[in-house]
Amino acid sequence: MALRCLVTRGRTLGGLDKAAAVASKGLGQLRGLQTFSLPELPYDYDALEPAISGDIMRLHHQKHHQAYVTNYNKAVHQLQDALDKGDASTAVGLQGVLKFNGGGHINHSIFWENLAPISQGGGEDPHSSLGWAIDMNFGNLEALIKKMNTEGAALQGSGWVWLAYDSELNKLRVETTANQDPLVTKGLHLVPLLGIDVWEHAYYLQYKNVRPDYLKNIWKVINWKYASEVYVKASTSV
Ligand SMILES: [Fe+2]
Repeated sequence: MALRCLVTRGRTLGGLDKAAAVASKGLGQLRGLQTFSLPELPYDYDALEPAISGDIMRLHHQKHHQAYVTNYNKAVHQLQDALDKGDASTAVGLQGVLKFNGGGHINHSIFWENLAPISQGGGEDPHSSLGWAIDMNFGNLEALIKKMNTEGAALQGSGWVWLAYDSELNKLRVETTANQDPLVTKGLHLVPLLGIDVWEHAYYLQYKNVRPDYLKNIWKVINWKYASEVYVKASTSV
């Protein structure tokens, strides 16, 4: 028995399709054993300053994301060994570490794409169909941002706040997930358009314990173009 991973070895997750595929397919398809690799950022570490410091981006990407990748790959090999031996107890016992680290990789791969330097369009308001959908579902962009900031600030401990497209109801939703749970754990019909990391490691070096200030400033470098592309693809394929 072999495990089909969602990203091929040696390839990055820089593309829209790859990030969307990771988020939408989850972790459990069994076929050929492959492992994750750390994707390169589509911009320099300091390119999001002053909203997010280069020190945060470097540590976040090189240490935190890398750790999720390393630990997921290790667990994948352990899972394969357990399955080969028919060791159901070990296989079941690995599910937690697979979910946490696989989720960490999925979430961060999307997160990097959700950000862009101002010089590359970061912070520019969404246009066309996503802009209209935001107005329809939340009243206006400011109301959506306020809702995501409020829910992100209120999330206890560590986790993520998401702008999701609900493909069953054909509407936008704001969701939160705890720890490194990817959005897919709340339903395969939820497509992540934006995911904002509210773990302390995402902001503490710059904003200390003031998560609301981090949430206020991150919108200056949000890549709405990416979110719009994911939305158009998801909403026209249902
Ligand atoms: Fe993070």
